[in-house]
Amino acid sequence: SIIVPSVQEMVKEKLIKKVPQRYVRSDLDKAEIACDSGLKAEIPVIDMSRLCSSTTMDSEIEKLDLACKEWGFFQLVNHGVDSGFLDKFKSEIQNFFNLPMEEKKKLWQKPGDMEGFGQAFVVSEEQKLDWADMFHLTVQPARLRKPHVFPRYLFPLGLLQNYSYLLHKFFSVFKTMFCFFRDTLETYSAELKSIAKILFAKMAVALKINPEEMEKLFDDDLGQIMRMNYYPPCPEPDQVIGLTPHSDSTGVTILLQVNEVEGLQIKKNGKWVSVKPLPNAFVVNVGDMIEILTNGTYRSIEHRGVVNSEKERISIGAFHNIGTGKEVGPLRSLVERHKASFFRSMTTDEYFKGLFSRELGGKAYLDVM
Ligand code: SIN
Ligand code: FE2
Repeated sequence: SIIVPSVQEMVKEKLIKKVPQRYVRSDLDKAEIACDSGLKAEIPVIDMSRLCSSTTMDSEIEKLDLACKEWGFFQLVNHGVDSGFLDKFKSEIQNFFNLPMEEKKKLWQKPGDMEGFGQAFVVSEEQKLDWADMFHLTVQPARLRKPHVFPRYLFPLGLLQNYSYLLHKFFSVFKTMFCFFRDTLETYSAELKSIAKILFAKMAVALKINPEEMEKLFDDDLGQIMRMNYYPPCPEPDQVIGLTPHSDSTGVTILLQVNEVEGLQIKKNGKWVSVKPLPNAFVVNVGDMIEILTNGTYRSIEHRGVVNSEKERISIGAFHNIGTGKEVGPLRSLVERHKASFFRSMTTDEYFKGLFSRELGGKAYLDVM
């Protein structure tokens, strides 16, 4: 993989009026970027508390079923994560991106490793880059965390903070980074993991399959990777793309739009439509893994990020995956029901290896039988 520069820094330092060539898209892509249907996508809104109080097929479960079949996306409200907590978490993410560059440099990607600051799937110097800085880190299971991007407290901060102004200044940077990782992120991770597990279980109810089939794939050892996205304002927003069109390779993705600036678009009936951020709602989408497990019943939909000339946009996605050492393939009960298997089965290792060795290009890598 290729190490990329910081777009945030570029915008901050140079007061650029023109976008560097490395970010300017081809004419074909630009025609596609301009192709916004102007519609606000009425993506379904699911009420988590209603979803939780129902164990049989009823209206909220039906809504979930429809959302996963026809949209591959929905907004989740009444999810139970405290809004005061989310506000704190959001401001910490903003502080994190505002850390001095010398601090962020220490967290930059290393060759061959996606963790840290950088972009995903950059395989050549010629490849066009996204108008964004991203920070990836593996959060669950804890044993797979990379210590260099997931540091721990080394000593009790409270004591040291009182020493002097200078020390305090130093530690405010230190604290922003370390407290963020250590406390808030930990809580956020646990909250989202349990929401994801509930969603998988409710999908099983909606699909009328034995919930155990899902639960044993997404058990306590499930994988959770997070990606924080920072999209700086762009002087020529029609020339660039914030996040290249793609479908997620995950089970489900749970996205928080940190500063509620619009930019996420999903492809619906061949047209790009914008998702309007609802305050403190999560945007949930079905990933390729769920498309495979459900033998194509639930759909992993192409989406992208666009940028504007006025405001930065910040979001954080949490990707929930089948844990290592298990199999990714259509669920047996659904293969029996459909009397066909539409995807090849493979180990999670093979699945991710295939993913990281592919070039960008939507779902082309999915091995359809
Ligand atoms: C975003 O909306 O900023 C990110 C969406 C994604 O992760 O694909
Ligand atoms: Fe995505």
